[in-house]
Order: sequence, then structure tokens, then C-alpha cells
Amino acid sequence: MDMTRDVSRHRQAVPIGQGVHWIGALDPGLRTFDIILHTDYGTTYNSYLVRGRDGVAVIDTVKAECADEFFARLESIADYDEIRAIVLNHLEPDHSGALPELIQRAPQAPLYLSPRGVGLIKGLFKVGAEEALPLKPVRTGDSLSLGDRTLRFLSTPFLHWPDTQCTYLVGESVLFTGDLFGCHLCDGRLFDDLLGDFSDQVDHYFAHIMRPFKQHVGPALDLIDPLPVRVIAPAHGPVLRDRPRRYLDRYRVLAAIDGGVGASPDAPRSLAIFFVSAYGNTARMAEAIGEGAARQPGVRVRIHDLSGAEAISFLAEIEAADAILLGSPTINADAVKPIWDLLASLAVIDVRGKVGGAFGSYGWSGEAVRLIEERLRGLKLRVPVAGLRIKLIPDEEELNACRELGAKVAGLLTGASETEPVVEMADLG
Ligand code: FEO
Repeated sequence: MDMTRDVSRHRQAVPIGQGVHWIGALDPGLRTFDIILHTDYGTTYNSYLVRGRDGVAVIDTVKAECADEFFARLESIADYDEIRAIVLNHLEPDHSGALPELIQRAPQAPLYLSPRGVGLIKGLFKVGAEEALPLKPVRTGDSLSLGDRTLRFLSTPFLHWPDTQCTYLVGESVLFTGDLFGCHLCDGRLFDDLLGDFSDQVDHYFAHIMRPFKQHVGPALDLIDPLPVRVIAPAHGPVLRDRPRRYLDRYRVLAAIDGGVGASPDAPRSLAIFFVSAYGNTARMAEAIGEGAARQPGVRVRIHDLSGAEAISFLAEIEAADAILLGSPTINADAVKPIWDLLASLAVIDVRGKVGGAFGSYGWSGEAVRLIEERLRGLKLRVPVAGLRIKLIPDEEELNACRELGAKVAGLLTGASETEPVVEMADLG
């Protein structure tokens, strides 16, 4: 590493363009982001300062715990009374944590944010926020003048919060994108051309942060595409100045990867069955369900034992599947942990509208099936076929019920079955 270019050794602002500085913070020790996302390489919270003839604009802040670093960098390049605008591309606390203090230090500066951000900021500042703060809601086409420089706003909502927007510095062609095009990679060298290939981290970030909202990526890229872009300045990870257009292209590709729902009507439908089995009984049910489903032409069935597996490795398959069935024994009146882990991981992909269902063998009470179904409904899957519970070891008649369940679900995917529940084994045993 060329340490002479390492910004982590001092707290100075770093120029990224003419009159444009990075004033963010490094968080190399972060290992989990938003509770669920592993961040093996830490992250950065990127904030920027743009200087014009009539003053400066600060674009986003940092996580509250990193505020000292942010303020030191800001003070290295500007005085607080020079700040004539605070631009909030995204209000999640990793970017707005230092905002309350910044407002205290620069009370004269209006806050430029999306109309949806106005609603969210109430949650940050509580009572009377809209009345007390100088809020300037902005949309695509609105702009902010710093005298000789213009910041133009682009509405890019739901990437990945409702409030998200991008801000474009006309002339210098710097696009400040919030979380868009970011990644969790902390490196004091700061710029993509100094770091080698980290495209896996960009893809990883997209998969976990943007993928659930990928239908909003296309409209955002359509707004950005006509603009000359020399630098992409995201809110996490390196500043992107080496052929920045390739990041736009990559997002087009990632957003176009089909998640199953809405796939071509001629494509085979897919059913993914996941199970955990304590004594082989739920496993037998899974096999029989798969057998019944596979009899339906035009349906591809895959069965996975979740024991010892990493839930996250199945996300791409689940996103591409049209239906998922989850099988769990009931232990201590609950489904087992690998099933809950899998269900928890579904929060990062779009599963709305897929067909879901549950099954499992049990000894006493058999709550697991109902609990899984409730969670599937909570995730907005459709659960059109009642779950199947079998007491202890399934006999041949019960295995036939499993086959019927599989056939019923497969039939729903191809249009061969009605949608009303036809399998109700909840009282069995
Ligand atoms: Fe980096 Fe959505 O906050």
C-alpha cells in the first residue's frame, strides 16, 4: 500500500475535484451492518463538501459515533458560517448521525432533501421537526446555486429507503449518490483506481441492500444516463473516478437478473423445498412433496437439507424460485433455528407474491408449521395451501398426502390447480 496516499493517518479533507472534498469517516472495525450484513472489510461513511463563490454545501454526514472525524475534516476546509446548504441524500442514521450537531453548528443552513425525507426527518428530530427546521424539499429538476456552481437534484426513491436522492454538481460532473453504487470497504486510499478489483464488494452490496428494490434501479439510471459523470461519490466505500460509467452498467446488469416472479410465461416454474429433520421424518415428507411436485410438467423441483448450511447461500435460488416450501420438526413448541435463519435472511430479497408453504413432523403439539406460515405471510408471500403436519413417522397414506401437497403447489405454479386450500392436515394426529 502507498501510505502517502492513506487518508486514515490524518483528519484532513481530501480533494476529489475542483472545490470538492471528501470529509467522511473511516470505520475499519465494523463487522456487521444493519444487524444482518457481514462487513468483513469495514466501511466508510462518505460525506462531501462543495465550495462555491457564495459559500459551501455539505452533502450528507456520518454515523454519530464517527462525528469527531467528520467535523475535524470539515473544519480543515471550511468554517461553519460558510455553510449555506446541507444536502441530505439519505437519512439512515449512518449518514444522518452527525446531523443534529451540524445543525447546531451551522443553524443558518437549510436542509435540502426529498419530500419523503421530510416525512422521515420527523422520526429523527421528533416533535415539531418540520416547523423548527429550515427544510427545503427538492425533486428532479430542482437545483441549488452556490453562486458560480450549481447542484442539481435527482429523485431516486427506494434505493434503498423511500427518501433516497442523488445530487449532481454541474460542470465538475460529480454525482453524489448516497448508498447507490456504494460498498462496504474501508481503505484509506479512498479512490477506486488505487485499490485494484473490488467489484465483488460492489456486487455484494447490491445483493444485500439494493436487490429488494431493483425495480427502482432502472428509473434512477435513466435519470443519470444523460449526464456527463466524471466522478461517482457514493456514501460508502471508495470514490469512483476510474471509468465511472461501468458502475452504472453493472447496476443495469444486476437489476436485470430475474427473480422468478414475472419470468417469461414459457419458462419452467421452480419450487425450492428446504427442510431440517431431527429423525428423518420431515426429510421423508420433503422427498414425498418433491416427488408429487415433480410429476407436474413444467415444474423444476430442488430439495435442500438446511442442517449445517448457510442460509445466505440459498438466497439467489429463492429469489429465482416461484415457490418455496419449508419443513421443520417442532422442538420446544417452535420451528428450528436453521428455518428461522433462512426466514430472517429473506428480508434482503424480494419474495413478495411468491407461493410459500410449510410442513413438518412433530411429536406433541406441532406449532412449527403454523409459525412458519405466519412468517411467510408476514413477508408477503402467498400461502394458498394449508400446511401439512404429520405426527412422528409418516405412513404411506400420509406420504401420499405429502405427494398431493407437492402436486397441488406445483399445479398452482402452472395454472393446473385452483388457489383455494385443498390440503388440510392440521388436525392429523
Ligand atoms: Fe448507508 Fe442506507 O445507509
